[in-house]
Amino acid sequence: MYGLLKGKKGIIFGALNDQSIAWKVAERCHEEGAEFILSNAPIAMRMGEIDTLAQKTNSEVIGADATSMEDLGKLFDAAIAKFGKIDFILHSIGMSVNVRKGKHYTDINYDWLEKGWDVSAVSFHKVMKTAWEKDCMNEWGSILALTYIAAQRTFPDYNDMGDNKSYLESIARSFGYYWGEKKVRVNTISQSPTVTTAGSGVKGFGGFMGFAEDMSPLGNATALDCANYCVAMFSDLTRKVTMQNLFNDGGFSNTGVSQKVVDKYTGE
Ligand SMILES: NC(=O)c1ccc[n+]([C@@H]2O[C@H](COP(=O)([O-])OP(=O)(O)OC[C@H]3O[C@@H](n4cnc5c(N)ncnc54)[C@H](O)[C@@H]3O)[C@@H](O)[C@H]2O)c1
Repeated sequence: MYGLLKGKKGIIFGALNDQSIAWKVAERCHEEGAEFILSNAPIAMRMGEIDTLAQKTNSEVIGADATSMEDLGKLFDAAIAKFGKIDFILHSIGMSVNVRKGKHYTDINYDWLEKGWDVSAVSFHKVMKTAWEKDCMNEWGSILALTYIAAQRTFPDYNDMGDNKSYLESIARSFGYYWGEKKVRVNTISQSPTVTTAGSGVKGFGGFMGFAEDMSPLGNATALDCANYCVAMFSDLTRKVTMQNLFNDGGFSNTGVSQKVVDKYTGE
């Protein structure tokens, strides 16, 4: 399309199926000229759909549980062997056992909380620590994670994922400070509700989506909109943007109430 990522190399975590945001990001990065390794948890890869994406984008698939420093070490070693240093990383990973099992926030299971926190938030630190120790990011590289506005505001049934997203966004700021030494930027993109396997797992998700659509002057951002934003953030056009939480949400985050919602309540 525009060749925005020509010559850039990276790692994309989290493409499960063609609804995944990471799937769309991989397609768009490929179209813009990037080369990358696709990674996901070995258990998710057994479903086999990621191979279709790998063929389409001419990329290699390497499994890694993003909570395992050993797996991440092997993955980054393989990326370095293939590409030398890399330019971008997408962390598109999230999971809460409490959400999956329908455990209410007021009655949370702490073992499940720790597991979900590790997968959804701490794994971002682990990914960056691995890249840091191997010193494998090129100058003006870009590291991104995906998040949701439940980090700032409470949404019923988003459960402990709201806390995990707050922690994730904080890691982006804290580690992003140190990455500045290496001229690498770290940001999170806060995306509208999007129909994916992880998204649809949240109780009442259809309601979330409809409300967000009605509250956003530009309407909800799709997975493709998110992928386009990721491309911009991996490109050389955004070199000085770092330690930010960037809303890709059609204006939802700054809208108090929309006329559409007012009309629904006044019956007009
Ligand atoms: N769908 C939405 O409404 C929405 C909105 C805002 C932000 N997000 C975020 O976008 C990101 C991607 O989610 P999605 O909506 O594309 O759903 P998805 O289910 O397609 O992707 C989640 C991915 O996390 C992977 N994963 C889970 N445990 C893992 C582990 N231990 N190691 C490595 N990978 C693991 C899954 O295999 C899957 O590929 C998540 O961080 C999610 O919270 C989603």
